[in-house]
Amino acid sequence: MKITVNNLQETEKVGKIISQHLEKGTVICLDGDLGVGKTALTQFIAKEFGVKEYITSPTFTIIKEYQGLLPFYHMDVYRIESEDDMYDLGYDEYIYSEGVTIIEWSEKIVKILPENRINIKIQRLDDSRRTLFIDGKGLVYEKITEELKNHESTCN
Ligand SMILES: Nc1ncnc2c1ncn2[C@@H]1O[C@H](COP(=O)(O)OP(=O)(O)O)[C@@H](O)[C@H]1O
Ligand SMILES: [Mg+2]
Repeated sequence: MKITVNNLQETEKVGKIISQHLEKGTVICLDGDLGVGKTALTQFIAKEFGVKEYITSPTFTIIKEYQGLLPFYHMDVYRIESEDDMYDLGYDEYIYSEGVTIIEWSEKIVKILPENRINIKIQRLDDSRRTLFIDGKGLVYEKITEELKNHESTCN
C-alpha cells in the first residue's frame, strides 16, 4: 500500500499506529534517501512504544539497544560492507529475539532479512510531504496495513 503524509505530525500518527502492533520478533525495514525521514519515523515509533531515551541514528555503532514495552533494537546498516559483518555483530540474535528490530537502509542486507517483515520505503515529495510505500509479510504487517487503510480513509 501507499500512504502520503503532509507533515511531521502525520508521520507521527503513522508511527503511532505501527507501534501499537509491534510484537516480539517484529522486524521493520526502512529505506529511502538520506534525510527522507527514516530516523524520524523510528523516533515516533519508539516514543509510542515506551522508549524514554531520545533515539539518534546509530550510523557508526550500527546497532543501538533501547527498552520500551519490549527490547527495541535500532540498526543503521548504511556502512555495512557485507552480510557477514552483520552476523559478526550478532544480527541473528537481534532479529530472532524477544525484541523489536528497526533497520534503516535494509536494502543493503536484503539477502539476510527475515521473510516476515514490514518494508517501508519513504520518498520525499517536498520539504514536509512524504510518500510511504509499505509491503511485507506476516500477521503484524497485515494488522498495520489494515489500520493504516482505515486511518487514511478517515483523513481523506
Ligand atoms: N513528513 C515528514 N516525515 C519525516 N520527516 C520529515 C517530514 N517532514 C520533514 N521532515 C524532516 O526530514 C528530516 C528527516 O531526517 P532523518 O529522519 O534523519 O532522515 P533519514 O534517517 O532518512 O536520513 C528531519 O529533519 C525531519 O524533521
Ligand atoms: Mg537515519
